[in-house]
Amino acid sequence: MSATSRRTALFCGLAAGVGGVAAAGCTGSDPAPVATTTASRAAGATAYRPFRGVHQPGIADDPQPYAAFVAFTLLGGSDRASLRRLLTIWTDDIERLMSGRGTIVDQEPELASVTAQLTVTVGIGPRVPGLAGAPAPAWLAPLPAFAQIDRLDPRWGQADLLLQICAASPTTLAHAQRRLITAAGDLVRLGWVQRGFREPFAGGGSGLPMRNLFGQVDGTVQPDVHGIDAGLLWVGDNGPAWLRGGAGLVLRRIAMDLDTWDRVDRGSRENATGRRLDTGAPVTGRALTDAPDLDAVDDLGFHRIDDAAHLRRAHGTAPHERFLRRPYSYDDPPEEGTLSNSGLLFAAYCADPARQFVPVQRRLAELDLLNLWTRPIGSAVFAMLPGASDGEILGQALVA
Ligand code: HEM
Repeated sequence: MSATSRRTALFCGLAAGVGGVAAAGCTGSDPAPVATTTASRAAGATAYRPFRGVHQPGIADDPQPYAAFVAFTLLGGSDRASLRRLLTIWTDDIERLMSGRGTIVDQEPELASVTAQLTVTVGIGPRVPGLAGAPAPAWLAPLPAFAQIDRLDPRWGQADLLLQICAASPTTLAHAQRRLITAAGDLVRLGWVQRGFREPFAGGGSGLPMRNLFGQVDGTVQPDVHGIDAGLLWVGDNGPAWLRGGAGLVLRRIAMDLDTWDRVDRGSRENATGRRLDTGAPVTGRALTDAPDLDAVDDLGFHRIDDAAHLRRAHGTAPHERFLRRPYSYDDPPEEGTLSNSGLLFAAYCADPARQFVPVQRRLAELDLLNLWTRPIGSAVFAMLPGASDGEILGQALVA
């Protein structure tokens, strides 16, 4: 059965099951690309990012302003064949959506025509390699507990599958999310959806720094993943063959207490990270990209970058203790009795989270001034699949 007929069968089956709602899309013919409106073109609507390649998009490329992390649980009875079916469908749909074409059963292809730099990146959780009969890397497991700081809510916990959807338009994002959730049909149960946003920091640096909701320039110090540090990001020959070219993702939902942060004076705020709030420069330097001087002392002999400052504690103590940070802010409706429900979708990507990420997180759990105002409430680890080359589906080497 070809990929197209397999998915047509699935969808027509689904459509029939719900009274033929989607039957219009079950002819097997592709909807024609739809002309983009002037208004949507104004927002860079036709800018698109390539889907195919050695790596999936959405990791090393510049973060778009909006993101949704969408988690799923595989239903009982899932196996390699059902996984292959799902990845075949998603590959086709993602490629279409990223190139501005509606999916086969798209009822709103006009929305798909606004590509807005859409990327969709697929990850799998710890249970999945076993279901596919493939070896799992040791790091693909929930993180160890960090009892000092973790206040994890199971609502934001580990899942089997992840879609990371990023775009410059929230409408494009919402449409892609909806299409991909419905495409998964009865193969999965939808878990959490975490939505975030970010704006590039206008003050310099690469595309990575942004301002988080504490007003800090965040995402400045990064490994050179396009150059000499590529091996820190992408799984290489020492990982399972199906994951080469992929990466680990640690996604932590970290609540930021804006109400108590509001009461902190500017000097103490800067002291908490060791960086200035205006330029993002280290308190020992002048420019954003100046290297912090961890040895500098003041007149009294105290370190100018506090011993408990986030910068000092997070700084890798070995060359491998580094990872790519691509955070998004969230600002959800306050829950009863609170004035804010805000924080960071802290997304860290690296080849081996146990070796690269965990030592840093352990250090921060032990001591970090930022802990006074931050609280991890969600945590999950995923293996982001390698990219799909021409003719391949995502996860080809896992489920073939
Ligand atoms: C809400 C939580 C957090 C906030 C608000 C925050 C904020 C910041 C800020 C403002 C910086 C300085 C600028 C930069 O280099 O990006 C920074 C640096 C950094 N953060 Fe965080 N961060 C948070 C959580 C974490 C977590 C959970 C980790 C890892 C476990 C982490 C790892 C790092 C690293 C590695 C650096 C760069 C350190 C260096 O200069 O070498 N951060 N963070």
